Amino acid sequence: MRILVTGGSGYIGSHTVLALLEAGHDVVVLDNLANSSKESLKRVGELAGRPAEFLAVDLLDEAALDNAFSTNEVDAVIHFAGLKAVGESVEKPLYYYHNNVGGTLNLLRCMERHNVRTLVFSSSATVYGASEEVPLVEKLPLDAVNPYGRTKEQIEDILSDIGAADSRWNIALLRYFNPVGAHESGRIGEDPTGVPNNLLPFVAQVAVGRRDKVMVFGNDYPTPDGTGIRDYIHVLDLAAGHLAALDYVYSNKGVHRWNLGTGKGSSVLEVLAAFSKAAGHEVPYEFAPRRPGDAAISYADPSAALADLGWSAHKTLQQMCDDHWRWQKENPQGYSA
Ligand code: WQD
Repeated sequence: MRILVTGGSGYIGSHTVLALLEAGHDVVVLDNLANSSKESLKRVGELAGRPAEFLAVDLLDEAALDNAFSTNEVDAVIHFAGLKAVGESVEKPLYYYHNNVGGTLNLLRCMERHNVRTLVFSSSATVYGASEEVPLVEKLPLDAVNPYGRTKEQIEDILSDIGAADSRWNIALLRYFNPVGAHESGRIGEDPTGVPNNLLPFVAQVAVGRRDKVMVFGNDYPTPDGTGIRDYIHVLDLAAGHLAALDYVYSNKGVHRWNLGTGKGSSVLEVLAAFSKAAGHEVPYEFAPRRPGDAAISYADPSAALADLGWSAHKTLQQMCDDHWRWQKENPQGYSA
């Protein structure tokens, strides 16, 4: 199939584009490169042995978006493009609603005009809000607690309403837990701009010497070692989940939602221990106050994806850290070396 991938030069996007090419699909990537580099797609093409087509398109530019569909026979869309920094979304909510929700509305209207109604949407566990009810299951009510999470929740609502009104749509809503790791080649990986918000890229930058220590946000949580627990999932397992969801929605109408997680939780200290083992030296850290809005424990019930898609995550936390470290060690400055 010919798959249009928005945000395909980003971290999860680039790993998914590689998996799509390896599975024999043709790929057209639309990206405005606001938070990614074209270098990732150059390397994806090297790894796959053939390139994805790239169009520098911002979803807010309706004419360019329409042209992308007019010049490509698109069978389905995987929609990653969006801003995703929780803290920034609190400071600049209008920027996030316009870019994430407005951009998605442009994409959906363009798909409709071009009779493309098969979509895999990059959602997030953040739509569950600060639910203390673990493991998190898809039928839980959504209650995002920050503007970024609310953009994901609103897009899920928009897609649910479209699917309810028009049975020609085939839609998968994929709720990611905590994507980490990198392709085993070390050639592609996570390269956040500025100070990383998330744990793994920050730990990796400390381990490679770009930063001096990790601040552990809280060691007084009601968890075995007092630090926050999350469901870390290898980005390659996540990419495989997208292909499984794409195959499913290509032949199943309606709107479907799945958690993409391992179903296992790991604490910050367990991540630090695994990453220190991967790097072959201790990663220095210090305890700091809790980060506002953080839940103590969050992990998935991934049984629906296994039952419906035959998909489950396989890679261990150590493999995630080994692969993340290899990428960071071989690309200390990310793609901008
Ligand atoms: C993980 C754990 C922190 C950084 C976020 C977004 C969510 C999704 C995934 C997009 C927590 C602790 C972190 C640090 C730390 N993103 N931590 N020191 O918060 O679970 O989810 O990323 O969809 O929307 O909310 O991930 O990596 O920020 O934090 O101690 O420097 O690491 O307290 O327990 P989170 P995270």
